[in-house]
Formats: sequence, C-alpha cells, structure tokens
Amino acid sequence: MRRTIIGVLIRGIVVRGHTLSMSAYAALEQRLSQESSRWLVTGAAGFIGSHLVEKLLTLDQEVTGFDNFATGFRANLEYVRASVGEERWRRFTFMEADICDLQACQAATSGADYVLHQAALGSVPRSVADPLMTNRANVDGFLNVLVAARDAGVKRFVYAASSSTYGDHPGLPKVEDLIGKPLSPYAVTKYVNELYADVFSRTYGVDCIGLRYFNVFGPRQDPNGAYAAVIPRWFEQLCRGAAPQINGDGETSRDFCFIDNTVQANLLAATGDHADACNRVYNVAVGGRTSLNELFYAIRALLGAANSEVLQVEPVYAGFREGDVRHSQADISRARDLLGYEPTHSVEQGLAVTCDWFLGLQR
Ligand SMILES: NC(=O)c1ccc[n+]([C@@H]2O[C@H](COP(=O)([O-])OP(=O)(O)OC[C@H]3O[C@@H](n4cnc5c(N)ncnc54)[C@H](O)[C@@H]3O)[C@@H](O)[C@H]2O)c1
Repeated sequence: MRRTIIGVLIRGIVVRGHTLSMSAYAALEQRLSQESSRWLVTGAAGFIGSHLVEKLLTLDQEVTGFDNFATGFRANLEYVRASVGEERWRRFTFMEADICDLQACQAATSGADYVLHQAALGSVPRSVADPLMTNRANVDGFLNVLVAARDAGVKRFVYAASSSTYGDHPGLPKVEDLIGKPLSPYAVTKYVNELYADVFSRTYGVDCIGLRYFNVFGPRQDPNGAYAAVIPRWFEQLCRGAAPQINGDGETSRDFCFIDNTVQANLLAATGDHADACNRVYNVAVGGRTSLNELFYAIRALLGAANSEVLQVEPVYAGFREGDVRHSQADISRARDLLGYEPTHSVEQGLAVTCDWFLGLQR
C-alpha cells in the first residue's frame, strides 16, 4: 500500500478515495508562488545553484545570486534568464564576489529571508591535488557566509553538505548519524561545515539545515575538465563517439540523484516547519544504487536511440581512484519524515531528461 501511495505521490498528488491531497512540495510551490520572500543563493552560476535560482524565480521569489565563477558559468545564468523570461529575471540580482570576502557576504545576506549556500570547490580529486585551495573556499568561505547569515538574522541557513562525509563507514544504506573517517580533504571540509552549522545553531540560535547530496546530475552540469562528474562527462564523450573511462571494475555504485530532487530538498528545508527539522543534516538522494557499469550502458542506450553508432562504443577500464568510496546508497527516510521530501525523478527519468539536454547542445 505504501509503495502504491508513493508511486502516485511521485506524480505530485495522492488519491485516497475521494480526497485529493497534495505532496508537501506541491503545496509549498503553491504557497511560495503566492508570497514572495528574499533568497540568497551562493554558487548561483554553478550547476545546482543555477537550478535553484531558476526554480525560485519561476515561483516569483526575489533572488540574489552570488558567485566568483571559479567553476561556474555566465552561460548558466543566461540560460536561466531565457527560461524564466525578462519579467521574472528582474527579480534577480547578481553579485560577482568571493565567499572568502566577509564584507561581500554581509552585503549579500543583508535583508535575506533564506540562504541556500552552494558555493564551494567540489571534486574529491581536486582536493587531493590542492587541499589548501579547497579548504579556503569550503571552510573559510563557508564560515564567512554562516557568520553573515547569523548577523543578518536570516530565517534559515541551508547548505550543501555531502555524502563524502560517510567516508569509510561500511554501513549501507547510509543513515545520517553513522559516519566513518573522511577519505579526502574535500570530505573533511564538508564535515567541518556540519560541525560549524551545529555549533552556530546551539551557540547563536541560527536555524541550520545541511543537505548531504549524493551524486547530483542533470542539465547544465559541467562535462569538461579534469574534475567533471561522471554523468556529464560520459554524455559528452559518448556524444562525440569517444570511449568513457571507468575507474575500477565498474561495480562501484552510487545513489545518483536528479537535480529536480535536490532543488525540492532545498526548498522544503528552507521553509519546513516541523518542530524537529532544524539543526540536522539530511541525505538527499533517491535511495537506490546504480553501478558504474549499469550507468554506462543506460547512458549509451539513451544516446544510441538517437545515433546507433554510439552503441558500438565500449568503456575503457582503469585503476581505482584515490579517495573514492566503493558503494554509496542513502536512507532518505529522515528527509521524508521531517521535510516531506519525495523524489519526483528516478535515475532513469533523470537520465532521459539529461540526455535530451546533451542532444539539444548538439543541434
Ligand atoms: N554535484 C554533486 O553531485 C554534489 C554532491 C555533493 C555536494 N555537492 C555540493 O553542492 C554544491 C554545489 O555543487 P555543484 O555541483 O553545483 O558545483 P559547481 O562547481 O557547478 O557550483 C559551485 C559554484 O560555486 C562557485 N564558487 C566556488 N568557489 C567560490 C567562492 N570562493 N566564492 C564564490 N563562489 C564560488 C563556483 O564558481 C560555482 O559556480 C557544492 O557545495 C558542492 O560541494 C555537490
């Protein structure tokens, strides 16, 4: 019965007899579109940040975007502008600045109701290559935004945490309170974020929520460069007939999460009113597990439907990557129970949307 209800919930509406009741997210979208609040999105020119900006503007919110373009792109903001239209775009203000600049963070948070803090240097291998640079953005920068949010008296500070915090803990699925030792400098920085948020909640009364993202993917994720994530990289390579590299034997697995699910979790976290919701971290994923081999063949099949030559491309297997965990899968019941989170997209559905995006880039 629970499965049936969830199956229907995925489409947004629960049908029980004659009553129609909305999912928490659908109700929130409706509420937000009727009352405007002020949001600060850091990392707004990045993959996740630009989707948050797009969704918020679509819901007629006032949004300040903050980014220094370290890994983000003006093109992402231009895409959002085209998508939301000029009238809604006028509700958007952009600050080009570094989160390592406290004054800039203070100017950006002033008057904000909600902060969605996404700005950071992602990528485990980047942090292994340059731990100082990662620490500056992810720890010093994070603390600046948190201090600014405290001083501005924001209603809630929601930040991008990471599944990398589970480190070497062998348990599956991952539950929020059972973590191991971090396996990379990046993982250390994301765990430090959680520790600071917890202390700021208890010491200064800042309402903080950390969202431990599990391998987010979708349109606009950067496919290029040494630190690109696996899904955009493979789409891009297969689109031009190049053979993707699989690190290890391909049985490494991840709980890949489509961007719309991640956006939903942010909006619910910022506005949820469950008494126990704040000062916690939440897994944000789908609750499934896809191996790299399965992922490769799924992407190849999707692209192969548009161009059968892609079906001839085989992956190249290489060594395991430093700092990578073997398996990752989330228990998402805390986010379900306390935030009303319910993923709208399975991995397959998300890959199909992402495939359309990459095929569109070729036209
Ligand atoms: N994508 C994932 O699968 C994933 C998984 C776990 C956690 N996260 C976290 O989610 C957040 C967003 O990730 P993303 O995938 O959108 O990455 P992204 O690189 O596309 O976006 C990050 C944005 O932050 C900006 N930025 C970086 N350093 C900055 C600084 N010092 N000052 C101002 N702006 C700065 C970048 O220019 C970029 O636009 C990050 O905190 C990341 O660690 C992402």
